Amino acid sequence: MEVIIKANYEEVCREAAQMVTAALRKKPALVLGLATGKTPRELYRRLVESQEDFQNAMFFNLDEFVGLPPRDPRSFHHYLQEHLMDHIRHDPRKVFFLRGDERDMERYASEYEEKIQDVGGIDIQILGIGRNGHIAFNEPGSSLGSRTRIKTLDAKTIVEYAGIFHSPDEVPRFSITLGIGTVMAARRIILLAAGPEKAEIIHRMVEGPITAEVPGSALQLHPLVHLVIDEDAAAKLARRDYWKWVYSNKWRVGQ
Ligand code: GLP
Repeated sequence: MEVIIKANYEEVCREAAQMVTAALRKKPALVLGLATGKTPRELYRRLVESQEDFQNAMFFNLDEFVGLPPRDPRSFHHYLQEHLMDHIRHDPRKVFFLRGDERDMERYASEYEEKIQDVGGIDIQILGIGRNGHIAFNEPGSSLGSRTRIKTLDAKTIVEYAGIFHSPDEVPRFSITLGIGTVMAARRIILLAAGPEKAEIIHRMVEGPITAEVPGSALQLHPLVHLVIDEDAAAKLARRDYWKWVYSNKWRVGQ
C-alpha cells in the first residue's frame, strides 16, 4: 500500500485527479470504478475541469440503495450524473451504473459482476471509507471474498444517511454493492479520506490486522493501492513519518 499524506482535502483530490488523468492518457479505454459520498466530490470537479476526453472510457460504480431508481435525487446514480457525467465528454453506452430498481436484484447483481469481467475488469477503482471501515456498502462482517450482491445496511450507516432521507425510517434497509472480492480484483485502487473523523479508521485499516470487522483492511493484500489522505485523516497513523519519508523519496516511474 502506498500512503500519500497531503496537506488538505483539496490536495488529496488534486493528487487523485492527476492519477486518473495520467492513466486515461495512457489508456483511453480506461475502465473506471466510481465511488460516491462526500469525499470524491472535489476529485470529480477536478476531472470535469480537466476537460479530458472520456469518450472511450467505461464507467462502473460501487453501490446503490435498493429501491431507488436512477432519477431519484438520493440515488448514487443521480449523484454521479450530477457531479461528473453531465459535465464530461463520454459515451453513455459505456456507462454501467448500478440500478436500485431492478425486479430481480439478486440476478442483476450476478450479471453486473459478469459485466465487469466481460469488459476485462476495472483498471482504477476509486474508493472512500466509512467510519465503521466499510468500503462500498460492505459493512463490518462482510466476507473478504464477497462479490456483487445485496447487503443489509448497518444501523450506524442508516443513521449517517438519515439526513438526506429526512429520517432513519426512510433510509432503505438494503443496498446492492460490489463485493470486497470484486474491489480487490481491480488492477489499481485509489482510496481517498479526509478529516479527523476518518483518523481512527484509517489507522485500523492500514496498521491493524486484516479482518472482516474492518472491511477496508482487506486492501493490505492488494498489490497496488494508493491511499491518498489529508493530515487530519493521517493523524492516528503510528508510522506517519515513515509514510511521508517513503513518498518523498518515491521513484516516480510507471505512473
Ligand atoms: C458510503 C458509501 C461509500 C463511501 C463511504 C464514505 O456509505 N457507500 O462508497 O465511500 O460511505 O463516504 P464519505 O466520503 O461521505 O465519508
